[in-house]
Amino acid sequence: MYRIAPSLLSADFARLGEEVRNVIAAGADWIHFDVMDNHYVPNLTIGPLVCEAIRPHTEAPIDVHLMVKPVDRLIPDFAKAGANVITFHPEASDHIHRTLALIRDHGCKAGLVFNPATPLHYLDHALDDIDMVLLMSVNPGFGGQKFIPGTLAKLRAARERLDTYEAASGRHILLQIDGGVKVDNIAEIAAAGADTFVAGSAVFGAGRDSDPNRYDSVIAALRAELAKARP
Ligand code: DX5
Ligand code: ZN
Repeated sequence: MYRIAPSLLSADFARLGEEVRNVIAAGADWIHFDVMDNHYVPNLTIGPLVCEAIRPHTEAPIDVHLMVKPVDRLIPDFAKAGANVITFHPEASDHIHRTLALIRDHGCKAGLVFNPATPLHYLDHALDDIDMVLLMSVNPGFGGQKFIPGTLAKLRAARERLDTYEAASGRHILLQIDGGVKVDNIAEIAAAGADTFVAGSAVFGAGRDSDPNRYDSVIAALRAELAKARP
């Protein structure tokens, strides 16, 4: 029912394959892969070569969050590199429908990402073409930022739209949250309607402080909180 997707942004980049194996062995569901270009966002991270390098280390879905502009050029490369889900920011694409179709044509699930102040109206004519909605609960670009509380109301609004859409179409669209997700707030985020949770510093920070190879306890703690949120 709930998916936990640790963000590699807070992992140890010198031993990424091992980090991927350890975090999945500890019970994570997806690997969240943050791609930043120092243009759409003020930071620079990893690209298709790194995605390809970690692919053999897990069978878990790789969830590629593109914070790049332009978007389209990189989609075939990430699909070839083994991405399963590809999301992008609508402001970064001149032709949103075309970009969504490109992702699906390459065999991946497609999603739109909403920055804290980006309105949900980008969903108006896109729901048939998307598999996931991602709400940012921080401004994109960096790990370790604080959850913006207003995101909870936006999550409830998105949940309502997706439920209405599912009732009419029979299609289930995932609702993901990204930024500042911790053990102490994941339950209220789930209660507001999220079903898929990105957590970077909460997972990799906590694990490394105690024991560099064990993320079991933080993932178990996140799941225990999620169990409380279940209606
Ligand atoms: C921010 C990234 C996030 C980030 C989350 O631009 O999209 O995925 O890594 O990190 P935390 O969980 O530390 O806020
Ligand atoms: Zn992300």
